[in-house]
Amino acid sequence: MGVRIYTSREIQKIIDSGKIAYEAHMYIKDKIKPGISTKEIDEMARKFIKKENAYPAFLGFRGYPSAVCTSVNESIVHEIPNKDTILSEGDIVGIDIGIKYKDYFSDTAWTWPVGEVSTNAKKLIKITQQCLYKGIKSAESGNRIGAIGESVQKHAEANGFSVVRSLVGHGVGRSIHEDPQVPNYGRKKDGIKIRSGMVLAIEPMINEGTYEVVTENDNWTVKTKDGKLSCHFEHTVAVTSKGPVICTMPAGNSIDVFELMAS
Ligand code: CO
Repeated sequence: MGVRIYTSREIQKIIDSGKIAYEAHMYIKDKIKPGISTKEIDEMARKFIKKENAYPAFLGFRGYPSAVCTSVNESIVHEIPNKDTILSEGDIVGIDIGIKYKDYFSDTAWTWPVGEVSTNAKKLIKITQQCLYKGIKSAESGNRIGAIGESVQKHAEANGFSVVRSLVGHGVGRSIHEDPQVPNYGRKKDGIKIRSGMVLAIEPMINEGTYEVVTENDNWTVKTKDGKLSCHFEHTVAVTSKGPVICTMPAGNSIDVFELMAS
């Protein structure tokens, strides 16, 4: 399948979908505290998404059994919510939400601290979020896909962290995963040219230690090989003639956060 180019009308529909995904994150964020299980997070997300007349895009995708992914500490992505995984003070939890709304998809992840976390966990969260915004800034028409990865990788490695290689970002819009692949590493001369109308899920996965990963026996959960922390942030981003537009944040906010986080 080729890379889809979306009209501004379609991009507006992706923004409508993305707004629900953003609001689901903010709804969950306020309820994250020591003692809750990742299963409870999944239930909160399901309820919220249903109330918005939307559908959790990951549910049933390649057989995935839950509405969202909840990846704790050394889990990088795709951890299945579970009643026995109880959050503790000092944990970090990555929540990944895909939304289908009126046939358009959005995909976004945030990582939250649970109570007070270590200095290095705080730094990892901050740097990963900055990596995302630096990647988004590079999603300019005329650049190549590799410009996104180069920006992410440079910032992560300059801060002593590593970039996961075996999982990458992707196109999104009419389906949850589309072409092209969007690696979080590489050089700006790599990959296809970015064009206005492309919609990309940019999603750096940044590790405290090695970038090497292992997949658990459930065939979903991907963890760091060395057991050190991993952090994940993701936005759905539309490339426009006026630059990248974040579809999974409220329009007014996106510029402020963009400037704040990219510094
Ligand atoms: Co994604």
